[in-house]
Amino acid sequence: MVAIIFGAAGGIGAAFVEALGPDTIGLSRHSAPPLDLEDETSIAAAAAWFAAQNLVADLMLDATGFLHGNGFRPEKSWAGIDREQMLRNFAINAVGPALLMKHFLPLLPRNQRGVFVTLSAKVGSIGDNASGGWYSYRAAKAALNQITHTAALELRRHRPLAICVAMHPGTVETKLSAPFAKTGLTVRSPALAVAQMLPVISGLNVTDTGGFFSYDGSLLPW
Ligand SMILES: NC(=O)c1ccc[n+]([C@@H]2O[C@H](COP(=O)([O-])OP(=O)(O)OC[C@H]3O[C@@H](n4cnc5c(N)ncnc54)[C@H](OP(=O)(O)O)[C@@H]3O)[C@@H](O)[C@H]2O)c1
Repeated sequence: MVAIIFGAAGGIGAAFVEALGPDTIGLSRHSAPPLDLEDETSIAAAAAWFAAQNLVADLMLDATGFLHGNGFRPEKSWAGIDREQMLRNFAINAVGPALLMKHFLPLLPRNQRGVFVTLSAKVGSIGDNASGGWYSYRAAKAALNQITHTAALELRRHRPLAICVAMHPGTVETKLSAPFAKTGLTVRSPALAVAQMLPVISGLNVTDTGGFFSYDGSLLPW
């Protein structure tokens, strides 16, 4: 049994690889095979490569994501909404993970427990949104949550012991969160965040599939 981490070069992804040890397969734009969320061919090729290894993955964890970069910052107001920024957010935070699910969920074990976790964000929760702003990231993560829930329903028909969830990692010190670090905000190291999430992931059971969880195991509102 092995774990596959998507986005293995990222702050949280690298900490998962480190914590899970040598039987972990880390996939990223820089790995062999490379995996680029904006290139479905690379996702399909990585899935085919994994299938050819004759290994069984009991954990697949998607730690990819996009919040800022290439001149983009999260919108403070509707005045900041930009077509390219919104499309990029959806491409990386929603469409890319959906393609991971398309190609990798069928590779979960057929007759034993297997878990697919995608890292979402609490700001993607509509019910929890009391402060506004960040239109593109919020909307793309909300879409990711819907995709995760929908995929879990389909997965249950083919893999009754499999689990597919979205998880909020909490605020973690990575390049994604760096520009938004504020005094007084509790920021955890990637190693601590992973140490908190791993027991929650281990404790998930089939009745949890399709859910949106926080790193402490609590359920988040949609
Ligand atoms: N850090 C936080 O406080 C926080 C809070 C809530 C939710 N999250 C979520 O947690 C997840 C991990 O975030 P992080 O903090 O670890 O951020 P990070 O260090 O920026 O890692 C994000 C990873 O996504 C990868 N990625 C971006 N575009 C990609 C593409 N086209 N194809 C393949 N990989 C791509 C990046 O790859 P490269 O290394 O190749 O650039 C990077 O490794 C994200 O989904 C984020 O939204 C984080």
